[in-house]
Amino acid sequence: MPEDSEDPFRKRTGVTRRGFMATIGTGAVAAATVGPSATAEAAPGAEIPDAAELLRVTLTINGRSHRLLVEPRWSLLYVLRERLGLTATKLGCDRGECGVCTVLVDDKPGYSCMMLAVESEGKTIVTLEGLMRGEELGPVQRAFVEEDAFQCGYCTPGQVMAVEGLLRANPNPTMDEIRTGVSGNLCRCGAYAHIFKAGQRAAELKKQEGGRA
Ligand code: FES
Ligand code: FES
Repeated sequence: MPEDSEDPFRKRTGVTRRGFMATIGTGAVAAATVGPSATAEAAPGAEIPDAAELLRVTLTINGRSHRLLVEPRWSLLYVLRERLGLTATKLGCDRGECGVCTVLVDDKPGYSCMMLAVESEGKTIVTLEGLMRGEELGPVQRAFVEEDAFQCGYCTPGQVMAVEGLLRANPNPTMDEIRTGVSGNLCRCGAYAHIFKAGQRAAELKKQEGGRA
């Protein structure tokens, strides 16, 4: 299409398509070079943090200690994803309803969207990345693969963490206990039957491997 004043894109935006594509290219380079703090500042609704409001915290995540400056309002989920790059933990409802943001807090499953980062200090946090050994999947993750326990996969990190937390508390759960264990995690694809089987298989694999995460 000719890039003239009849171009609907140009009418709507005031720029030509070619000019727009050139701008995207420049922006991508800038985003790649400015680092994570710029990402947060550019997030929708985000404001530039006031240094006087930042709090110094030390968070223990996946066995590592992280010293960070955080705003009091930042959730643990936000810090995991946007400050530490631990993006296996997903953002869904952001209001404690879907479970996709589940992590282990002192070995118990919890919604990281509902927990402030400052509240997490002094607790032991485990995310999905913490179940890996290098590139090797942990037994719960392998059980989900073996049992084909996902479709789109978006809920899977939360489901895996819920099962991991269940098995740490109860290595021999009944099927009813597995159902209850993942009842705080919604799967919009409806893969529940396979998720429950994955819970059973994960218990077997963990036993074979001496209970490793
Ligand atoms: S994103 Fe945390 S419960 Fe939905
Ligand atoms: S596999 Fe798609 S939401 Fe659970």
